[in-house]
Parts: sequence; structure tokens; C-alpha cells
Amino acid sequence: MGGVVATLIQPDGTAVRIADAQKGESLMEAARRAGVAGILAECGGACSCATCHVFIDKLWFSKVGDPDQVEEEMLDMVDYIRRPTSRLSCQIRLHEGLSGLVAEVAPEL
Ligand code: FES
Repeated sequence: MGGVVATLIQPDGTAVRIADAQKGESLMEAARRAGVAGILAECGGACSCATCHVFIDKLWFSKVGDPDQVEEEMLDMVDYIRRPTSRLSCQIRLHEGLSGLVAEVAPEL
């Protein structure tokens, strides 16, 4: 297992490269393990808090895909900071095709 690389840019502008993300885990889980600042994940990945909000890099967004209806409703609640590439990182399952993914952590709520 393993082998998925992701880079998250923290709210202070510094980047964290996650080199050991596991296939099948969520981007939020990998970010929490790596200690990425700004990924609070207060609901533990249940798609009900939006404290794992990230802005996917434009070049990667089509590979990550659009949010489903439930996630869409959560993102509506943070509409004031939402961007077209907003996703909740707990809803992104990592796989080989996402290795190299770049995303920016949204500002704290
Ligand atoms: S961890 Fe709460 S919505 Fe993602």
C-alpha cells in the first residue's frame, strides 16, 4: 500500500508534501497524519463540519471531480469562502491517479 503523494499548502502559505498517503484513505486522513495546519476535521470525516475544506489546484480538479449532493450542501454553508474548486478533503478518496495532487487549505472558519 502507499505511494500516493499529495502537497497541501497551509493557510500561512507553507507547503506540506505528504509522501506516504495510502490508497483508499481520504485526503483529510492523510493530511491529519502529516499534521497539516488548518485541517481540523471536527466531524471525523462525516461530511458535516466543513473544517477539512480545501481548494483543489485547477490542474487537478477534473481528476478529483465534483462534490456529491451531501458535500455540495455542506460547501454551501461556507459559501463566503467557497471557490469553484472547493472540496471537502474527507470526501476525496486517494488512489494512484491522484498522486501528485496539489491543494490549498481553506482559511479557518
Ligand atoms: S471532516 Fe468534517 S466535513 Fe470533512
